[in-house]
Amino acid sequence: MADAAVPDSGPDDGADGDAPEIVIKVRGLDTGFDEQQIHKGLDLDVRRGEILGVVGGSGTGKSVLMRAIIGLQPKRAGSIEVLGQDVDNLDAAAAKDLRRRWGVLFQDGALFSSLTVAENIEVPMREFLDLPDALMDELAGFKVAMVGLPVEAGPKFPSELSGGMRKRAGLGRALSLDPQLLFLDEPTAGLDPISAAAFDELIAVLKQTMGLTVFLITHDLDTLHAICDRVAVLADGKVLKVGTIAELRGFDHPWVREYFGGPRGRAAEGTSPKTTPEPARKTAEAV
Ligand SMILES: Nc1ncnc2c1ncn2[C@@H]1O[C@H](COP(=O)(O)OP(=O)(O)O)[C@@H](O)[C@H]1O
Ligand SMILES: [Mg+2]
Repeated sequence: MADAAVPDSGPDDGADGDAPEIVIKVRGLDTGFDEQQIHKGLDLDVRRGEILGVVGGSGTGKSVLMRAIIGLQPKRAGSIEVLGQDVDNLDAAAAKDLRRRWGVLFQDGALFSSLTVAENIEVPMREFLDLPDALMDELAGFKVAMVGLPVEAGPKFPSELSGGMRKRAGLGRALSLDPQLLFLDEPTAGLDPISAAAFDELIAVLKQTMGLTVFLITHDLDTLHAICDRVAVLADGKVLKVGTIAELRGFDHPWVREYFGGPRGRAAEGTSPKTTPEPARKTAEAV
């Protein structure tokens, strides 16, 4: 708790000492639509190699924040640095180069319905690389396997897959160019609990093996407990607090208390490898 490397959301340059390297740095972000202000002076740091969970009530601006970071949402004020570059001060070539270094799975997970899974995974390759078709097919085959899909899934169309498989295919497309940064917006929403847990596990494994940094919007408490290193809480247009779940649990805010302290929050506690609850009791409750 007293750890200096766990600021609420304030400056954390990672420039010296053993401070973590910051790969996404948002400062003073204001966004909105017409009269409606969404973010007001929002600050956030994402550290290299972490899975940062982003939570908050519905409509608090989680998706808009993600879109602002990846340059799809205009901002009214503030600055955003990604991988050390100010996203507002890049020429077209540098911006394209930066985009190549992140992968995104949007909330609706939209795959192109008229393309097969393999063709969907090849879309970013066609945009950013100049490779022969045969090589792209081979690389797409690797990605299909990497996200835990059977090889037969490659030539299938999205409509022929289950929800969980479509999410994996979307993840394969997000990872098409071996990004350093992965943005996931509610990736387990709509999945059954077993598919959701398997998807979480996949994210954790890919993070380890690919050295990914993950910006993960979720309302899934099991996901937060199982794989997130830190969690950022969005409310009132800001990041209210960033910390481990244990740190957040002691944070005195109505939404946070309700979220982590309610029945679902308490039930999810038992699934965490990152906290040390009493597993026997939790398991007994859960079964
Ligand atoms: N394209 C848009 N045009 C107008 N309002 C929008 C648009 N996208 C999002 N909003 C509004 O911004 C707010 C935050 O949206 P969003 O970031 O999607 O919330 P969430 O935290 O649930 O992801 C909501 O009130 C939503 O209605
Ligand atoms: Mg959203």
